[in-house]
Amino acid sequence: MEPKTEQAPKRKRRPSPLLIVLIVCAVLIVPGLISPLTVRRYSIQSPKIASPVRIAVISDLHSCKYGDGQQELLQAIDSQQPDLVMLCGDIFDDERPDDNTEAFLAGISGKYPVYYVTGNHEYWAGAAVFAQKMDILSRYDITRLAGTSETITVGSTTLTIAGVDDPDTEVVDARHGFPEELAEVRPDGQTFTVLLSHRPERFAEYVDSGFDLALCGHAHGGQWRIPGILNGLYAPDQGLFPQYAGGRYEQDGTVMIVSRGLARESTSAPRIYNPPELVIVELGGTQG
Ligand SMILES: [Fe+2]
Repeated sequence: MEPKTEQAPKRKRRPSPLLIVLIVCAVLIVPGLISPLTVRRYSIQSPKIASPVRIAVISDLHSCKYGDGQQELLQAIDSQQPDLVMLCGDIFDDERPDDNTEAFLAGISGKYPVYYVTGNHEYWAGAAVFAQKMDILSRYDITRLAGTSETITVGSTTLTIAGVDDPDTEVVDARHGFPEELAEVRPDGQTFTVLLSHRPERFAEYVDSGFDLALCGHAHGGQWRIPGILNGLYAPDQGLFPQYAGGRYEQDGTVMIVSRGLARESTSAPRIYNPPELVIVELGGTQG
């Protein structure tokens, strides 16, 4: 008889905890990296609005590319048929070439009334480069608001569109102080007044001034989001867990809409659950 040999029972291999963590992270994060251009809508009612007004808000493009000749972005805007287009800063970038921004400006020029305010990145390259960017802006007949305002009529609604430079304007021109420009465009309380300003963290000043609506950018949605749990991890000039990363905020009769912007390949960290967005603001009266 052959002697019996006992074999040790086969042990099942368990996946390592590290592998499990990596798989869970990949399953949770990878869908959040897929971030096509999104249209995000807000509606605002006021007795000062006599007939509906639709505003397209573009912020923080940073000269990123949205298709050949910016067709993806331009078609998204055209499909919304806005009455006005508002550019809320950092449409240019201090390090990237202006070609994508210029293609975008060429695409909207003459189609819509377009208003623009500066962002911090437009100043960071210094006075000479800043002047070149402003030359491009005027080439396409875009109205820059810098402590200035215009009163316009859309349908039966009279609107005042006001705008202030980014506070970093002092990098190239110390004469344009942010509080001083804000004081220059303080609303009269009669006409619905929209403020274009790059910076959402200055919300308290917009409330104190009595603007009906402020349109801002700069925060890039806080770059990383967990929908329903975390509205942004980090934003410039607000730090970690920013209060005004993106969305709608309201205090004492002033509404602030913060666009999460269009910066994409210009940033070193990817956007997570934070798709680039075209913001559409619908203004309506209080009576349906
Ligand atoms: Fe910015």
